[in-house]
Amino acid sequence: MEIIIQATPEAAADVAARIVARQLREKPACVLGLATGITPLLLYQKLIALHLDWSGVTTFNLDEYIGLPRGHPQSYHTFMWENLFKHVNIVAENVHIPDGNAQNIPESCATYEARIHSAGGIDLQVLGIGTDGHIGFNEPTSSLASRTRIKTLTPRTRQDNARYFGSEEDVPHHVVTMGIGTIMEAKQNLLLATGQHKAHAIAEAVEGPVTSMNPASILQLHPRVKVTLDEAAASGLQRAEYYRWVYDHKPDWQAL
Ligand code: F6R
Repeated sequence: MEIIIQATPEAAADVAARIVARQLREKPACVLGLATGITPLLLYQKLIALHLDWSGVTTFNLDEYIGLPRGHPQSYHTFMWENLFKHVNIVAENVHIPDGNAQNIPESCATYEARIHSAGGIDLQVLGIGTDGHIGFNEPTSSLASRTRIKTLTPRTRQDNARYFGSEEDVPHHVVTMGIGTIMEAKQNLLLATGQHKAHAIAEAVEGPVTSMNPASILQLHPRVKVTLDEAAASGLQRAEYYRWVYDHKPDWQAL
């Protein structure tokens, strides 16, 4: 894992944007995995401002609520179109978001996995992290080998996400999410976290044991992971000084 600590959320998003932009420039027909939530908003704003060419890019989102109409203001479909896709030249047919309204959820999850596979796999997966360590909506105790499927949100995640819905009762209980096994097959993972409320989950994920009690900790077993943090999200890390030194002394050929 490469831990990149930046002074502010803005600077952390800037590093993340450079990583994604490099992926798009190096492989214009790349496959990106994308996340929603408050964390990647700055990243998406920066990517839009870079005026990159998205015409060959294929995307797969991590998750979607079950039962929200596509056009619902809080659906992840709406989120992605409003905050990224409508501002770039992506081809609509190349956008994939799990279908939270499918008649047959297991079948549509299997189709989603097959589409990722036939697109050649995900080159770069953007991840956020829940305060309980979830990635995608793989809540603690999720199978570390799981594939795209239905999951039930924990009370804590529903509480965390109530800020977007206005009240906790309005947050759906069920979601479709890529599995941890799916995420682990991405060629590269980029986890972005900002804010003090993420410090505990990040410390456990980066420096704790690999455990399904903090699903993000599985990333310790992935060969290519960058974790981009602001100071607040990094504040629980015991080896922060070491990570800072490593980043500040990267050989030129490794620099972003
Ligand atoms: C969203 C997702 C989730 C979020 C996580 C953090 O697509 O996969 O894992 O990344 O819940 O959400 P925010 O950024 O809103 O704190």
